Amino acid sequence: MAIRAEEQSFTIETKRTVYQLKADKFGVLRHIWYGAKTGCDMEYLQVYRDVGFAGNIYEASGTRDYSMNTMLLEYPCEGIGDYRIGAVSAIHGDGSCALDLRYTGCRIIDGKYSVPGMPAVYGGENAQTLEIYLHDTATGVEAVLRYGVLPELDIITRSACIINNGSGSVMLKKAHSLSLDLLKGEYDWIHFCGRHAMERQPERARLIHGVQRVSSSRGTSSHQQNPAVIVCSPDCTETNGSCVGAMLVYSGGFSADIEYDQLGRARLVMGIDPDTFSWRLEAGESFYTPEAVMCFSNAGFERMSHNFHRLIRENICRGKYKDSVRPVLINSWEASYFDFDDEKLLDIAKKSAELGCDMLVMDDGWFGNRNNDDSALGDWFVNEKKLKGGLNALTKKVKALGMDFGIWFEPEMISEDSELCREHPDWAIRIPGRAPVLSRCQLVLDITRSEVREYLFNSISSILSGADISYVKWDMNRSICDWYSAALPPERMGEMPHRYVLALYELLERLTAAFPDVLFEGCSGGGGRFDAGMLYYSPQIWCSDNTDAFDRTRIQYGTSFFYPVSAVGSHVSAVPNHQTGREIPFEARSVTAMAGSFGYELDPAKLSEQERQAVKEQIIRFKKYAPLIHRGTYYRLSDPMSDNYAVWEFVSADKAEMLVFGVIFRAETNMLRTGIRLRGADAEKRYRLEGTDMVYTGAALTEGGILLPDTWGDFTTAEFHFVEEK
Ligand code: DGJ
Repeated sequence: MAIRAEEQSFTIETKRTVYQLKADKFGVLRHIWYGAKTGCDMEYLQVYRDVGFAGNIYEASGTRDYSMNTMLLEYPCEGIGDYRIGAVSAIHGDGSCALDLRYTGCRIIDGKYSVPGMPAVYGGENAQTLEIYLHDTATGVEAVLRYGVLPELDIITRSACIINNGSGSVMLKKAHSLSLDLLKGEYDWIHFCGRHAMERQPERARLIHGVQRVSSSRGTSSHQQNPAVIVCSPDCTETNGSCVGAMLVYSGGFSADIEYDQLGRARLVMGIDPDTFSWRLEAGESFYTPEAVMCFSNAGFERMSHNFHRLIRENICRGKYKDSVRPVLINSWEASYFDFDDEKLLDIAKKSAELGCDMLVMDDGWFGNRNNDDSALGDWFVNEKKLKGGLNALTKKVKALGMDFGIWFEPEMISEDSELCREHPDWAIRIPGRAPVLSRCQLVLDITRSEVREYLFNSISSILSGADISYVKWDMNRSICDWYSAALPPERMGEMPHRYVLALYELLERLTAAFPDVLFEGCSGGGGRFDAGMLYYSPQIWCSDNTDAFDRTRIQYGTSFFYPVSAVGSHVSAVPNHQTGREIPFEARSVTAMAGSFGYELDPAKLSEQERQAVKEQIIRFKKYAPLIHRGTYYRLSDPMSDNYAVWEFVSADKAEMLVFGVIFRAETNMLRTGIRLRGADAEKRYRLEGTDMVYTGAALTEGGILLPDTWGDFTTAEFHFVEEK
């Protein structure tokens, strides 16, 4: 059994890790240990002393070494003498803010809990759930802490439910999904920051005293920060040292705060962004937090990443495309932007079908009066001036070329210059009496209103059922502010950012259920909402609007710490690159795009004959490797943030096949070839390097490695495919 309860002590065991917590004699829920398996009750490490200005709970007065402020706690509350950052805070009817949640009981359930209205990890062999019940005697507020365990993946999930069992209303100011106290020590943390078209750049720093925070108050998980952080030992590398990765399964504003306290301990709390959140709980009402997922590794980041990759692929992504290799797309965006008609699209389709593409995706610009980005969002009906003969006729012609058809929507938005806005001006999010903030000339629809969701469901459904459509790109191109909904009373207005996310999930759930054969790809100006919440609905997400292969190696490197390659939308685009002006050779662009759901983002009419042949060959190559790329184990063999090369590797589950890809950024004169040691090979097996007579032992590839090619010019590529020699 993964979960054991003895008296008031709880042990959650995974394949290689253990998590211990305990309710003490005062009912205070204390965190004991999260780390490697030791076979011991690790409470012996928690010896406290009288610390100045660390108060004692009333029952423990006289025992000066017993203080909420010094102990490791499991779900810390604010206002009761623990001055570190808390996981939950509330304002009661009398204006007071304290909450003192003490243990009242527990339950162990087979299977993994779900979170009402929100995405969550599901299934998993031997999955179990631990529920811990807590109660605040003074107010009647209760909490249920839920822990889900997927033993094989070393994954522990967390979610809390706050229940107002008092008589008056309570205003929640913060209700986090996870709190994790770590023992005294030195720690680094890594977060993934960036900006539009440069997302998820890893940044590592030593924890310093005080609170360090990453967050988003943009209504989405954001380009700027990602809801996933790592706390690790200062010596932690890819393959050595200890680390805990924590990730939210949530797509809205979030915060991840780490406090390094006066006694040299670290506390990580993570959940909905408290700066843009409040939630009124009337007597009898409950609030569910989104889910957080944790993974501990004492073998470096690699093992942690492998577990998150499998978790997302097997226990978060759903639907028909979860396990299947995705179609090779050609997307019209960088090929023609808004300037296309049916003939242009058919030309792209015809030329790319000849090259081996599987699907044409018609991006932005096919609907309403949309000829640039300042109009028509919300008008989800076909512009027949552009698509003469309508969508059905176009899709039939594309189908006749042997290609599937995909379509772009930006459902959550409304342009002021749109029929929808003229008809329903009140559907846009804006504060009465205040000019709203425009971004890309657009406003956000108030999808918390059911009539707005109904409109979107019906208009999107009618497009999807009116023609043979196999794919939807679900875009979202601005951050949200001006939070106000005509449907909410003033005392509930602080609920709107979270209600927006719940509404989005409801709409996505309905549409993905109604169209189970359609592949959904998430997008928010590229990777502005690249999170595990969206991956529950769309198994792939357009990783970044930046298609420059050099930048992409870094963006995809950062992305890979938590998210699997199968989730990464990645296309080959034209040069000079439309975002950077850089001219990277075709082969380097294609190798980089092959670390994802491969496709093209260019006008095939502009390709030279040589490039056309290259595309044909790339698609054949990608399709040959695709099962290994999407289902194999992914290894980061370099750090492209500092190395002059990006090298990565895929290994099949049976270790019979290894594929190494790489891009060497700058050519170097008078330099020996760089050696790279492979990982994941079976030391005993013998592997032939495909296309050569060379046979290596797994031990040689692991201990000695391979040599990257000589360089001539920048962006030389490497490709090594090793197959077991029986
Ligand atoms: C932003 C996306 O990331 C692009 O790929 C493209 O779909 C545009 N939006 C269209 O407006």
